[in-house]
Amino acid sequence: MTELEAIQARHSVRKYIDEPIKAEKVKTLQACIDKCNRMGGLHLQLITDEPIAFGNGIDLPKYGKFEGVSNYIALVAPKGSEGDELTGYYGEKVVLLAQTLGLNSCWVGLTFKKVKTAYSVAQGEELKGVIALGYGVTQGVQHPQKKTINDVAVNKSGKPFSEWFVRGIEAALLAPTAVNQQKFELFLHSDNRVEAKTKFSFIGYTHIDLGIAKCHFELAAGKENFNWK
Ligand SMILES: Cc1cc2nc3c(=O)[nH]c(=O)nc-3n(C[C@H](O)[C@H](O)[C@H](O)COP(=O)(O)O)c2cc1C
Repeated sequence: MTELEAIQARHSVRKYIDEPIKAEKVKTLQACIDKCNRMGGLHLQLITDEPIAFGNGIDLPKYGKFEGVSNYIALVAPKGSEGDELTGYYGEKVVLLAQTLGLNSCWVGLTFKKVKTAYSVAQGEELKGVIALGYGVTQGVQHPQKKTINDVAVNKSGKPFSEWFVRGIEAALLAPTAVNQQKFELFLHSDNRVEAKTKFSFIGYTHIDLGIAKCHFELAAGKENFNWK
């Protein structure tokens, strides 16, 4: 499975079977996390065999009920919105890798318990949330598409949208966002420059969501076709 296929195949999965992640997959994920940490200045940590974070039945009505989670990535990163966006961008790289390895995942900002002995947080850093990982009971379902291309794409280029831009937008609309809020906009400017902006949300998490959407956009649009503004 390629990363592009993983974008299509990935859906949030909240119920997992009781099976440890195979050692070679753990190694592959760890290598990717190490690289992401180096590139993004992050402190993402793979936690395996730790059932407490999802063990206490913390759930919100109809939302966020997890079962069988004992592996997750602790999303520790520099405080602030820049750290949020980098967490989204690089965290989603790990999510897509996990999908290509036959694993399932779910980003979790709220409905888990912080187990502070499981990960470390240095000065200036914070835990932004976690990503649950494992072998799903199911593969999940496609999220309802509340937004269309026209809701999230803004043309400032003076020319019709190019094919690569539309491909990027379609992939961004498949990105996971907190409560599927999709509060982002992607602007096409002249000279193939693309700008990504958050929109207002009462819920928050918009900068993490934006980083995730940028990861999807970039993979589908092709880095060779544009520059971020
Ligand atoms: C930043 C972020 C925070 C999230 N927090 C939670 C959460 O606390 N609990 C939960 O069950 N799902 C959470 N989700 C998962 C979203 O509900 C899910 O991604 C969204 O509904 C879209 O569905 P999909 O991932 O299947 O495409 C979160 C997703 C993101 C990106």
